[in-house]
Amino acid sequence: MSADARPPAARRPVEKAVIPAAGLGTRFLPATKAIPKEMLPVVDKPAIQYVVEEATRAGLDDVLMITGRNKGALEDHFDRNWELEQALEAKGDEQRLARVRKSADLGTIHFVRQGEPLGLGHAVLCAAEHVGDKPFAVLLGDDLIDARDHLLERLIKVQQQRGGSVIALLEVPPEQTHLYGCAAVQPVDGEDDVVQVTGLVEKPDPADAPSNLAIIGRYVLDPSIFDVLERTAPGRGGEIQLTDALQERAAATGEGAGVHGVVFRGRRYDTGDRLDYLKAMVKLGSRHKELGDDFAAWLKDWVAAGGE
Ligand code: G1P
Repeated sequence: MSADARPPAARRPVEKAVIPAAGLGTRFLPATKAIPKEMLPVVDKPAIQYVVEEATRAGLDDVLMITGRNKGALEDHFDRNWELEQALEAKGDEQRLARVRKSADLGTIHFVRQGEPLGLGHAVLCAAEHVGDKPFAVLLGDDLIDARDHLLERLIKVQQQRGGSVIALLEVPPEQTHLYGCAAVQPVDGEDDVVQVTGLVEKPDPADAPSNLAIIGRYVLDPSIFDVLERTAPGRGGEIQLTDALQERAAATGEGAGVHGVVFRGRRYDTGDRLDYLKAMVKLGSRHKELGDDFAAWLKDWVAAGGE
């Protein structure tokens, strides 16, 4: 098909997921001194594996991770480990063997290094060559979304219907807006969970927040975002912000422009700081299919006994 005969990007299917994983993880030091924060376990899997499983569940089998220095463990985790597999095989430990193999069987995982930590927008720009000219998903590893809530599938559907870019929004208490990108929105007729995004501000002071709708770490982006990111100047924190590039797209018209939001009302587990990470561990631990019943029963008794 010639370039001119191609369908507009909006109608091209979403097949690729991009997972930025180059952050330093300073909030978890010293745990993250020698291992990437994405490898911290949530119950019995590294946090990043939940995110890759979410992408592949939504049909995105091509996953690109944007990594940086000291991230070798990520490549190892999603690769085969023959020695370990042989040892488990020799012992006849089928159950653990299956668990070990699963992490290497999740789609096709590619890696590119960011080189310089210039911000989330710059990390996404590092995916330009791999992504090409189709809309693509971005999943941030600090947010885990409950598998029962199908947020990514919903974002993809809305993007395919409406074109442009689509972001996931969550209502947060007004005193927390300074932790997130925040959206100014207008309702969309006939849709309960979809809004038109008219403006975006990265981590606003509470007085400047356009709403209490915060961007959570799931996006389906039109590839025109790359041209915008190329010329996006450093913003909040001196970093090239994805939110700023999306603000430009929200205000623009023409092919690939426009931003919609999906207001998420499901279950999200934040693993971005130590306290939220502990909460995520308890919630997901209580639902774990092998450990959940025992853990939840113990937790109840322990709390009832005053946590001693
Ligand atoms: C990033 C984005 C922010 C978004 C947040 C969601 O910030 O820049 O707009 O609200 O992720 O987790 P970070 O938390 O990486 O500082």
